Amino acid sequence: MSEKPCSPGGAGWCQLLAEAPAEAVPALEALLEAAGALSVTVQDAGDQPLLEPPPGATPLWHRVRLAALFPAGSPLADLAQRLETAGARAVRTEPLGERDWVRAWLDDFRPMSFGRRLWVVPSGHQPPDPGAVNLRLDPGLAFGTGTHPTTAMCLRWLDAGLPAGATVLDYGCGSGILAVAAARLGAARVTAVDIDPQALAATRANAAANGVGDRVRVLAPEALAPEPVEVVLANILAGPLVELAPVLAAHLAPGGHLVLSGLLAAQAPAVAAAYAPWLALAEWAREAEWVCLAGRRARQGDIDRMAPAPPS
Ligand SMILES: C[S@@+](CC[C@H](N)C(=O)[O-])C[C@H]1O[C@@H](n2cnc3c(N)ncnc32)[C@H](O)[C@@H]1O
Repeated sequence: MSEKPCSPGGAGWCQLLAEAPAEAVPALEALLEAAGALSVTVQDAGDQPLLEPPPGATPLWHRVRLAALFPAGSPLADLAQRLETAGARAVRTEPLGERDWVRAWLDDFRPMSFGRRLWVVPSGHQPPDPGAVNLRLDPGLAFGTGTHPTTAMCLRWLDAGLPAGATVLDYGCGSGILAVAAARLGAARVTAVDIDPQALAATRANAAANGVGDRVRVLAPEALAPEPVEVVLANILAGPLVELAPVLAAHLAPGGHLVLSGLLAAQAPAVAAAYAPWLALAEWAREAEWVCLAGRRARQGDIDRMAPAPPS
């Protein structure tokens, strides 16, 4: 990777630039966002106009230029290698000056609605529907604004499917958007975990800002007690979701709901197979190339009813 120094630990921001074929974009966006990119933009790398896409199509140019914004000092050398393996070319970084890039990006972040009751309203905006469940959100340096389809599908599941008074685990909480939404939509108690300390800080701040700090516990994964809950949400990538199957299943109470997001449609069978020893997962929603899987763990009574009758 050719690189002007994005000074380690220095002030300011670092922009990562790359070129890629359009079909590699979903995987590259996922890698960039999982690595903590604050924003990812996709532009034409050639000069190909996109004219009148058919209804429902998400058009992309054949070759695109990606630009991702990171805090200065982010460890980008390994990431560049992973991007190249996933199809990116001409990966390079350049430092950006001291302009408040996070705020500049938030200027483009507008209130959005999810399902019937839920709105996500960025700091500094007025809620368009004051009677709705309005989530005030500032993602800080963590992933999770609701603009990404993987988050949006989980928010819609919460709006439609969260049982009143449920206990919830948000595994890979990022900004805390799902944990806070669950609490605001009526969960009795929510536990949010993440391996990234910046995500834990953002989740605590967002829970407090939404008046649910007393119902949202924020922990590193290793501090999580072996306590089954009624809803487990995990919006991570397919690889970690497969690896985490025994962990997430162990936290799912009999009769509980599991909701998995962050996987591409082609990865859904492998992820569902990893969870098959505990429960059947089915596609709950699909947006662009992304799918959200959901399923319910059997209760003991359900298992007894499914068991063959003993011989008389
Ligand atoms: C795609 S973001 C999702 C954030 C938020 N839940 C949402 O839906 O927008 C995935 C988050 O999972 C975290 N993560 C990745 N691998 C993890 C693991 N093995 N255990 C816990 N958290 C993990 C990342 O740090 C990141 O904050």
